Amino acid sequence: MPVLIIKQIPLFAPLSPPDQEMLASLLRRRSIRKGDFLFHRGDEGTALYIICRGLIKIVVPTKRGDEVTLALLADGDFFGEMALLDELPRSADAVAMEETQLYVLNRSDFLSFLIHNEHAIRAIMQALSLRLRRTDDMVAEVCFLNVSARLAKRLVDLVESRYQRDKGDEKHDVSLTQRELASLIGVSRETINKELKILRQKGIVTTSRNSITICDLERLKNRIK
Ligand code: CMP
Repeated sequence: MPVLIIKQIPLFAPLSPPDQEMLASLLRRRSIRKGDFLFHRGDEGTALYIICRGLIKIVVPTKRGDEVTLALLADGDFFGEMALLDELPRSADAVAMEETQLYVLNRSDFLSFLIHNEHAIRAIMQALSLRLRRTDDMVAEVCFLNVSARLAKRLVDLVESRYQRDKGDEKHDVSLTQRELASLIGVSRETINKELKILRQKGIVTTSRNSITICDLERLKNRIK
């Protein structure tokens, strides 16, 4: 793989050129289609994955048959490090939300790469801390915000993140189904349906089958209390 690509991945960017060369020879490419699972919670961890282009959803399935989304990961993000570090099974499912190209680093290469690179250890620890902070925020939201405020906050976060496609005007598209949105907030699809109806009636959003268009971001932000 070209070293040029390695330099664009935040986890690998701070490495020395010889280390980047070495990594380039260890990474394999893999593509998965929309809807395909890369692994399931409980599987043995055999590799670390880095997203070259695409979107991966990290989800925990519940016994009732629905799921909670822990994170949406996009270009340059990595995942699958936990099972490699703690030697326990995969903590969640990883599923492609669109056609996704990945780089794969197998377990022993990842561990020896970490041992020899202080920069990489720091980058992994920063990423783990950031994930824990986000998860802490999610727990606090569930405890202290009602569903309307949580929905508004999540939609604003998505608009301000890398995962949505801008329409180039005042409107912002969030390409998620109601079921996916429900899983991100940890409520039922019926609850999201009711909340979106209220937002539609107020002229804050419009909805279609696979996306939500935010027409009035300021009024949506005002609902986060
Ligand atoms: P692992 O447990 O090997 O497999 C599932 C992966 O999902 C996990 O490693 C992390 O890379 C990622 N993951 C798990 N929980 C979270 C979270 N709360 N936020 C972001 N990513 C997560």
